[in-house]
Amino acid sequence: MNVFVTGGAGYIGSICVEELLNAGQTVIVYDDLSEGHRSAVDPRARFVTAQPRDPDDVIRAVQSAKPDAILHFAANALVGESMTNPGKYFRNNVGNGVNLLEAARLAGVRKFVFSSTCATYGPPDHVPMTEDLPQRPINPYGESKLMFEKILQWYHQIFGLEFVAFRYFNAAGATERFGEHHRVETHLIPNVLKVALGQKPHCEIFGTDYPTPDGTCIRDYIHIVDLAQAHILAMAPGKQGFYNLGNGDGYSVREVIRMCEQVTGQNIPAVPKPRRPGDPPKLVAGAQRAIQELAWKPRLAKLEDIVTSAWRWHQAHPNGYPD
Ligand code: UFG
Repeated sequence: MNVFVTGGAGYIGSICVEELLNAGQTVIVYDDLSEGHRSAVDPRARFVTAQPRDPDDVIRAVQSAKPDAILHFAANALVGESMTNPGKYFRNNVGNGVNLLEAARLAGVRKFVFSSTCATYGPPDHVPMTEDLPQRPINPYGESKLMFEKILQWYHQIFGLEFVAFRYFNAAGATERFGEHHRVETHLIPNVLKVALGQKPHCEIFGTDYPTPDGTCIRDYIHIVDLAQAHILAMAPGKQGFYNLGNGDGYSVREVIRMCEQVTGQNIPAVPKPRRPGDPPKLVAGAQRAIQELAWKPRLAKLEDIVTSAWRWHQAHPNGYPD
């Protein structure tokens, strides 16, 4: 299959590209490198510099690639930033996404796989969270992804575009070659590991007064390779709809820090800070739908395996990607 991957130079996209290539697919990466890194693009893929705001550029790129499927990872994805710069989120995650959908329609693309998020739910009434929970996002990031989910449904209804939208929980971990490097790092695990690398004196805990057993936020961490495998399964004809991707296990911020200490063998000082706006207290996935309907089998579900793979990558690439 010929697969067009937006955001293929980013953290999740680059590892999905690697897994697609390992599975024998042909891959075209379309990325403007605003968040991603040129050296995170697997050399076996064809790279096209993207101008996602320009509808003609997107149409040209999709038409020349003639893909069977589009995997759409490109997005801004920081909860905290979306609370201070919502326009950036709606413009990129919704507006540029529509440019891509139009290009897909004009080129007759059969399948569209979208990176959505559990942030579309907002604080859930219960965990584990199933796909039928009400979606009430509490930050513009989650709202922008929910808007695009709705737009996708209209393209399905009107044009018959087959889509799978994955609601990711917290992607983490690395492969041997590709890992997590954001120019401004806000995510928990890489920030904690920076302390173990000696790059920071301590990590920070955003909020210690949440209604959770140790007062810190609980998240469901999922290995990036398990996430990537779900995308490969979603490309099969007939697969359609919304799927959570997570392990069903919640870990608090303090538990993640303790696991990082165990894996690195180092003491990692942590400083309590105020809550970060937009953070729900507890997000844990119910992913039975993906397991049953897509035959998805997470293989690296233990937090220890996730942190160990991230630690290996960060030790080998202490400054991330060179560009
Ligand atoms: N946190 C800290 N200290 C840090 C960084 C994070 O305490 O230095 C806390 C956050 O407040 C949050 C938890 O650790 O409670 C996880 O934070 P991340 O920034 O690692 O991840 P988020 O849960 O905020 O968001 C990530 C992705 C989103 C995705 C979401 C789904 O960035 O794109 O997971 O939960 F939608």
